[in-house]
Amino acid sequence: MSYRILLLGEGAREHAIAEAISRSVHKVKLYALSSHVNPGIRDCCKRTGGELIVGDFLNPDKVVEVARNIGADLVVVGPEEPLFRGVTNAVEEKLGVPCIGPRREAAQIEQSKAFLRELMWKYKIPGRLRFRTFRDVAEALEYIKETGESVAIKPARQVGGKGVKIVADIQAYLRDVRTEVKIEHVKRIYSELSRYSDIEHRILIEEKVEGPEYTLQCFTDGQNVMPLPLVQDYKHAFELGIGPETGGMGSIMDKGWVLPFITQEEYERSVEIVRRIVQAVREETGTEYRGIIAGQMMLTTIWGPTVIECYSRFGDPEGVNVLSVLETDIVDIFEAVLSKALPKIKIERKPVAVVVKAVAPAGYPLNKRLAQGHILEIDKEKIESKGCKLYFGSVHEEEGVLKTAGSRAVEIAGFGDNIPEAAEKVNSVLGCVRLRDWKVLYRLDIGSEESLRKIIMQAELIRQVYRARLSRELKIYDWIPGKGLRVIEY
Ligand code: GLY
Repeated sequence: MSYRILLLGEGAREHAIAEAISRSVHKVKLYALSSHVNPGIRDCCKRTGGELIVGDFLNPDKVVEVARNIGADLVVVGPEEPLFRGVTNAVEEKLGVPCIGPRREAAQIEQSKAFLRELMWKYKIPGRLRFRTFRDVAEALEYIKETGESVAIKPARQVGGKGVKIVADIQAYLRDVRTEVKIEHVKRIYSELSRYSDIEHRILIEEKVEGPEYTLQCFTDGQNVMPLPLVQDYKHAFELGIGPETGGMGSIMDKGWVLPFITQEEYERSVEIVRRIVQAVREETGTEYRGIIAGQMMLTTIWGPTVIECYSRFGDPEGVNVLSVLETDIVDIFEAVLSKALPKIKIERKPVAVVVKAVAPAGYPLNKRLAQGHILEIDKEKIESKGCKLYFGSVHEEEGVLKTAGSRAVEIAGFGDNIPEAAEKVNSVLGCVRLRDWKVLYRLDIGSEESLRKIIMQAELIRQVYRARLSRELKIYDWIPGKGLRVIEY
């Protein structure tokens, strides 16, 4: 088959998608609609005879116009925001062109944390957390003042994976200080979300859970779920997991399908959870979910595999881990998604561990103004001589000069027989990315032996608790001061 494919987006994840499409044995002409000129995406398009078009890919009318002009047979949506704005609905309804990326109704699993939580409770999907949502800041503040529980306070809408604060209630004498922290955070979220008019609830407060996190990315045709190897994302800006949350400073994937701290059984239970979410979306919205769905999971003492969030797209950088070593033709996978034939596809991948690390301009993620407009100098040859792959992210090329656009500028993937080996390869070339007049930010600790050892130990402790609970069919009790014991009905 020959295809004209339009890819939406402009980051390293979209560069990796573009590269996978450009490797296809199908006759493909690839076009991209991006707001910056990402040279990686542009070159992939050129290799296929297509081009990168600069324009607003968040605007459904613009996407329809470009898809019509190029005669697209398929639109592939990279990031989540165009999905929330109904780009898939517009392209399908106005042009009859299919999309890899769910319709707005189904993308609510990522856009609205309240939607996802309610769906999970309604359909009794395992791995769900107790939560409350608030439309109004006064109501949320009142709740915070009343409850002494350890909680996670989150924006109820997806805002680039940021804005989560977890406050543990341990030392009673610090209670007032903690309440102040919670109140400040609720107010901050409320004011940040005031620019969105597309969700009902603004603040989500849920029980605090702890444990190793991992991302399970899957293709789905709305009926079947095709799981990919597990990846772990490192969200914090600085080493040892401190500093502000970012979109992800790096991610690790082993050479098999699980991570060193997740068992095969936990992987299968995670897949079952995602499968049930897809089924519940169909029942709840009447929409078949077509595209990529990812469970942002945590191993907790309550459930074992537990859902923290869902993505309606590949994670970034998590998508790069998988796509950089994907051997199955991605266009065959897209065809199977559209014809509901996913079970016929076998996912093949190179049997190597993959570690991806982001290099961002200093200032990211809190001060975009400081982080943008710096000239990048990259020694691509040296990066490739170590067997690593370079993916361009938030950059803009103009007249041959490459400048930072404010977010993660590049991501580098390294490969090895195991995760620490792949991590070392990337570390050895991080210095090849420099800014002419400014500093860069990256993390050397991601994928190190020491960090893996800690996560494995943490997972083992958690595993003992949740397995004991499951094997004895223990009910989950909450002890609330002044109220006594309460059984949580799951
Ligand atoms: N790496 C987290 C995300 O894609 O949102």
